[in-house]
Amino acid sequence: MDRLVIEGGRPLSGTVPVSGAKNAALPILIATLLTDEPCVVENCPTALRDIRTTVRLLESLGKRATVEGAAVRVESTGSLKTQAPYDIVKQMRASVLAAGPLLARFGLVRVPIPGGCAIGLRPIDIHLKGFEAMGARRIADQGDIILSAPRLKPGVVKLRFPSVGATENLMTAAAAVPGRTVIRNAAREPEIEDLGAFLTKLGAKVTGAGTATVTVEGRARLHGARHKVIPDRIEAGTFLIAAAAARGLVRLTGADAGHLEAVIAALRRTGATVKSGRGWIELRMERRPKPVSVRTEPYPGFPTDLQAPWMALMTLAAGFAKVRETVFENRFMHAAELARMGAQIAASGGTAVVAGVERLSGAPIMASDLRAGAALLIAALAAKGRTVISRVYHIDRGYEAVEKKLARAGARVERLK
Ligand code: UD1
Repeated sequence: MDRLVIEGGRPLSGTVPVSGAKNAALPILIATLLTDEPCVVENCPTALRDIRTTVRLLESLGKRATVEGAAVRVESTGSLKTQAPYDIVKQMRASVLAAGPLLARFGLVRVPIPGGCAIGLRPIDIHLKGFEAMGARRIADQGDIILSAPRLKPGVVKLRFPSVGATENLMTAAAAVPGRTVIRNAAREPEIEDLGAFLTKLGAKVTGAGTATVTVEGRARLHGARHKVIPDRIEAGTFLIAAAAARGLVRLTGADAGHLEAVIAALRRTGATVKSGRGWIELRMERRPKPVSVRTEPYPGFPTDLQAPWMALMTLAAGFAKVRETVFENRFMHAAELARMGAQIAASGGTAVVAGVERLSGAPIMASDLRAGAALLIAALAAKGRTVISRVYHIDRGYEAVEKKLARAGARVERLK
């Protein structure tokens, strides 16, 4: 298992390129199951394990998926299977997104129920209720869910919570169902807008993606398309927060500030100077951050995926900050590891109170999940001395070549194989 060794306490300085959005690439790659014609998805973070897992998922279902640099080409090899393998679903929960397109095309799909994970239970009831509203029947069998619907029907589906995955699964299914499907209380994340743009290229007509009401005019036959994935706002946000914690001046290229408004507003309140233009964002930080409390919410609120990184920044604030997690039930695993570096955090239920300290000190620590790992990396960059992070495979799920990118900003990060 790889480890990262970080010599912290050095200000960051340099230009870092941002990759394509993992969370947009996943549903888009899976949506290629809707068509037998070739698709090319560009600007994919193809070095990430989750993208490789998605390629394996597509191949296990009968597609040919080829990685060419930052692009993935997906082609037909004949007929598709309608059963997603458990060993892939257990590695990547987003595999459940294959249910929508397969059910819509073939009237039957079998997917393992994804189990819980480090950040909580994560049920898929909203996805399933949505399919039922479109006429599917479900039976549970030996840990799998079987969905059947000789023909899904269009209609109005109202979600009890704006789940990102459920919105994507239903949009993708609806794209292959002739007629008009309306999804109410839909998630509004930029990744949903990107999926909507892709489905429209395939021949469906998607309007309102990025708002709470998404309308999909589906088609029985969809065709191939070429698409370029949006920049990864969570990767960009992580690097901005890292620069605020370690101080210095960092410029991100290939980034979209419009997708990070809540985060940039919070960063400015800490005392950072943030500038942006078309395709770039720059952050300068010259002082100890002021405490800024945040509460995670569905987009356009403060993203839950940047909650842990934000907590890492607040451990260094000049005062007390409250961090409230409202999206996931158990997402404070990083607090105890940060405490090993000298952070003062009292977490209970969905609220953590962070008492900022003047400085953190390097320590051996362990990543428990993807974004918790990002938080540890940020703390390590700011801390005095050497930090060794183990279980780096969690970080590798969401950050491409993270040590190389940070090195471009002058960080001393080394990977031990
Ligand atoms: C996606 C992102 C993830 C991000 C999350 C919230 C991908 C691949 N992952 O995950 O990085 O943290 O959005 O922004 O895009 N829920 C239910 N029932 C359901 C579905 C969800 O109770 O059927 C709950 C979840 O347990 C969680 C909350 O709703 O507490 C949000 O989940 P959801 O928006 O679905 O997140 P994901 O799509 O899994």
